[in-house]
Amino acid sequence: MTKLGINIDHVATLRNARGEGHPDIIQIANIVHNAGADSITVHLREDRRHIKDHDLKILCNKKYLINMEMAANIKMMKIAIRNKPKFVCLVPEKRNEVTTEGGLNLHVNFNLIKKIVRTLNKKKIRTSLFIDPSIKNIELSKKIGAKCVELHTGKISRLVKNKKNFLSELIKIKKCSKFGVDNNIEIHAGHGLDYKTTKLLNKISYITEYNIGHFIIGESIKIGISNVIKNFRKIIK
Ligand code: PXP
Repeated sequence: MTKLGINIDHVATLRNARGEGHPDIIQIANIVHNAGADSITVHLREDRRHIKDHDLKILCNKKYLINMEMAANIKMMKIAIRNKPKFVCLVPEKRNEVTTEGGLNLHVNFNLIKKIVRTLNKKKIRTSLFIDPSIKNIELSKKIGAKCVELHTGKISRLVKNKKNFLSELIKIKKCSKFGVDNNIEIHAGHGLDYKTTKLLNKISYITEYNIGHFIIGESIKIGISNVIKNFRKIIK
C-alpha cells in the first residue's frame, strides 16, 4: 500500500511562537501515529526555526518511524547518526527561504552527498534525496547509490492550485518515476500537496510514498477549530 508520511514541523512553528510547550509536539506525533501515519517527518533546519534538537531526540526514541529531513553536510550527518532516525531525506537548505524551494543540486554536491548517503545506509538509515523531477537527477541519484528519492512536487502543486495547465509536469513526474523504478530506485513525492494534487499523482503507481505537511496542519485547524470553540463555550456558559 502507498505510504503516508506526515510532516509536523508546522506544529513546532506554532509552539515556538509562544516559546512554551503548547501544542505539544510529542502528543501530536502520537495522535498522528495512532491516526495511521506510516512515518513522521521532521526537518531539523540549521537555524532550528521549528524542530529543535531535543524534539528529534525524544521522537527518535519512540516506536514510530521518524523521517529526518536535513541539509547535506557532515555536521547534520553526525546528528542523524547520534539520533538514529529510521529514515533521512537530504534536502537543500537556504537560510532565508520560507520552505524548501527546490531539489538538491546533485551535480555540484555529488561527492559530499554520495559520502553521506553511503555512510547513513551503512548505519541502516534509509536515505532519500529530495530532487526536482528529471531523468538526469535520477541518473545522478543512481550513481550516488541512493535507494530512494523524493520528487519535489512544488511546481505541479502550484499549477493545480492556480488552475493552470499541469499536464506536462504530470507527464514529466510519471516518466521520471518509471525511470526510477526501472533503475531500482524507490519513488516518493512531496511538497505543496493537497487533496487535489495527491489524487492526480496517485494515478502514478510508481510513487510509493507521500510526505505531506502544511496542507494537513492547515486543514486540521479548519476541521478542528469549531470543536475547540464549543469546549470554551461550555467552560464560560
Ligand atoms: N518533503 C520534503 C522533502 C520537504 O522538505 C517538505 C517541506 O518541509 C515536505 C515534503 C512537505 O511539504 P508541505 O509542507 O508543503 O506539504
